Amino acid sequence: MRLYRPAPIPGSEITPESAWIMRRDLLRLGAAGGLALAAPSLAFGATELAAKPGGYDPKEPLTPEADVTSINNFYEFGTGKADPAEKSADFKPAPWSVKVDGLVGKPAEFDLDQLMAFELEERVYRMRCVEAWSMVIPWIGFPLSALLDRVEPLGSAKYVAFETVVRPEEMPGQRGVFQPLPWPYVEGLRLDEARHPLTILSLGVYGKTLPNQNGAPVRLVVPWKYGFKGIKSIVRITLTEDEPASTWNKMAPNEYGFYANVNPEVDHPRWSQATENRIGGGGFFGSNDRPTLMFNGYGDEVASLYAGMDLKANF
Ligand code: MTE
Repeated sequence: MRLYRPAPIPGSEITPESAWIMRRDLLRLGAAGGLALAAPSLAFGATELAAKPGGYDPKEPLTPEADVTSINNFYEFGTGKADPAEKSADFKPAPWSVKVDGLVGKPAEFDLDQLMAFELEERVYRMRCVEAWSMVIPWIGFPLSALLDRVEPLGSAKYVAFETVVRPEEMPGQRGVFQPLPWPYVEGLRLDEARHPLTILSLGVYGKTLPNQNGAPVRLVVPWKYGFKGIKSIVRITLTEDEPASTWNKMAPNEYGFYANVNPEVDHPRWSQATENRIGGGGFFGSNDRPTLMFNGYGDEVASLYAGMDLKANF
């Protein structure tokens, strides 16, 4: 990732009010379906969130929770890897709503109650950052396809665009003199990638609701793509006919492709992607190198999505 010249500070985006109170509703969900439980002894903002196992577990040692929640990229809070954890305390992930619009039969707005009411699963996924480090993370969420089914995509819809919240008053990276990226952060997937069962909207990690630094209250997780596709704190999902913009692709198209599939054979222009460092096994960026796997090891599941495509050209 690189730093760029300042962009104008955008106005804040006001999320609609709702009567959502995380703890109350998680208690209610727990009573109704046994999916969620609330515990009084957790750190501020975190609420326990249980979920049934969702398959795909690679059975590799989990990256320690302390690493998962402290080594992040979330430029809305700053460009340093410790910034998201250290500078996101003022961010308010509730109330929240996600608007789903564009080429759909039934545009809708989902509040947190409605998102939490999807059938939550725990998905232990290998995650691989474009900066050549990796983690194994127990996300909690639900397949994005379940949400897309609700809004009934039209036949003309070919892509799905995602947008992060803009709140300079709560996100210090959006209000400094130096603005590292244009806001909002945006990402996109092809519709078949978005509908793939591995693609989830995550509401939690390590048995709890998402910490702010990991993209509270709802973020995308696509385990066969580099981490930057995992857009955080999503407020809008739009179905489109044309390929949508993605922030890093816009900023440096020669370095960050739209597809961003993990691919050991396509090097980043400034470094190799052949190996990766597994965080938690050898210290912070210590020596725990291992070969990077095509599609991050999810080739059996996703390679068919790209049959016939030149993956060097479509990196
Ligand atoms: N989403 C937003 N809104 N802003 C960001 O700066 N950074 C991306 C991605 N999502 C980013 C974002 C990058 S570069 C990475 S590597 C992942 O978030 C890292 O977060 P995670 O470790 O919680 O998956």
